[in-house]
Amino acid sequence: MKQDIIPADGRLGILIPGLGAVATTFIAGVEAVKKGIAKPIGSLTQMGNIRLGKRTENRFPRINEFVPLAPLTDIAFGGWDIYEDNVFEAAVNAKVLDLPLLQSIQKELEAIKPMKAVFDRSYVQNLDGKNVKTGATKYDLAMQVIDDIENFKIANNCNRVVIVWCGSTEKYIESTDIHSTIEKFEAALKNNESLIAPSMIYAYAAIKTGVPFANGAPNLTCDIPALIELAKQTQTPIGGKDFKTGQTLMKTILAPGLHARALGVSGWFSTNILGNRDGYVLDHPDNFKTKEVSKLSVLDEIFRPELNPELYGEMYHKVRINYYPPRGDNKESWDNIDIFGWLGYSMQIKINFLCRDSILAAPIVLDLALLMDLAKRAEMSGIQEWLSFYFKSPQTLEGLSPEHDIFKQLMKMQNTLRHMMGEDLITHLGLDYYQELVETL
Ligand SMILES: NC(=O)c1ccc[n+]([C@@H]2O[C@H](COP(=O)([O-])OP(=O)(O)OC[C@H]3O[C@@H](n4cnc5c(N)ncnc54)[C@H](O)[C@@H]3O)[C@@H](O)[C@H]2O)c1
Repeated sequence: MKQDIIPADGRLGILIPGLGAVATTFIAGVEAVKKGIAKPIGSLTQMGNIRLGKRTENRFPRINEFVPLAPLTDIAFGGWDIYEDNVFEAAVNAKVLDLPLLQSIQKELEAIKPMKAVFDRSYVQNLDGKNVKTGATKYDLAMQVIDDIENFKIANNCNRVVIVWCGSTEKYIESTDIHSTIEKFEAALKNNESLIAPSMIYAYAAIKTGVPFANGAPNLTCDIPALIELAKQTQTPIGGKDFKTGQTLMKTILAPGLHARALGVSGWFSTNILGNRDGYVLDHPDNFKTKEVSKLSVLDEIFRPELNPELYGEMYHKVRINYYPPRGDNKESWDNIDIFGWLGYSMQIKINFLCRDSILAAPIVLDLALLMDLAKRAEMSGIQEWLSFYFKSPQTLEGLSPEHDIFKQLMKMQNTLRHMMGEDLITHLGLDYYQELVETL
């Protein structure tokens, strides 16, 4: 890591595979914020503060005033989708944002038209679109994506680009031998191996050309040894997987609290209804499996039942997602948590969260894009674990278990920013200065 970070001069291109509900809510939101008609609520980079130095110093700058991030006015948007709708049309179809808000930025949104996608229906069986690239091999498709990135950069006068995957969740696959090294992966691209998913082709194109890549869906994508190795070679920051929103956000807020108080948990049942296109894709069992694995990993890592079997050894964790069209993007989730306390006496907690999926995800896309770009300018490469805060299933190096506790994730992210800027790390010990104050009173 470099401490004299390259400044965020010039324009930053944010390219997004998948211009659906999340991506259009994000782009429309940034355009609305730029016009002064809305606030970037939920974005830590725009609205969050960071404490610096001792508590007695009272220094709490905004994050975007502390670290050199690209200003919103210097961003150009682009992306790929299997449908030809421009971002205005796609945002209207997604039915997340109100029409009057979208109409106030209609011109800006209509100007963003999706490039032809790399798509393979066997990975997302519930969708079918015509705006799709053709090529003799998957390697050819990757080269076309590299050209798209370069052409976008030139056409939009950008000197840097980042990519955030907001495409549909692909079917569940596991890392195999063809994903194990760069050579084998490139050979597999040229041999049209079926286990190379479309998202891996975008990720390869990005990483090969040094473009930071973040994965907002639970697909494997860049979480394979070949692309991790490539990221090191090309000094590219990467990260994933699966934006932490809704039910999992609540889980990683509440579970650390129960764990902190050594309360036992015997069961955690989570179910939800949603009716957007994401829900439709997840209605297919192969795609649900990818999401289920991502959602299930959270509690075990926080409670660590192997360290404390009396409290968490018997915990039953169930996650269900039900496609229910009337609700659209406005997901409703229910959690029933069976806990036990002193002498084993049982209690229950119920959570009923009426959330808006894309409203929670959009600020994450913004923060990830800006922080990935920062990481690149700070010469940080490979897996950006300090951005785990934003993910349901944070990517880590092989053999390391991810940190899911949102408060530890936040502390890690804030300390990374302090470290980047040469500020003291904060341990919350306080004795070094607090004790002195106490003794002199
Ligand atoms: N909304 C949330 O809270 C949330 C949270 C975590 C993860 N996610 C994930 O983010 C992704 C986007 O969610 P969404 O609600 O916007 O879904 P969406 O269905 O509205 O949008 C996804 C878009 O991706 C497109 N697409 C699919 N495959 C593609 C490909 N290979 N190349 C280019 N485009 C492709 C689809 O046509 C669609 O327009 C999903 O994978 C979802 O699981 C969303």
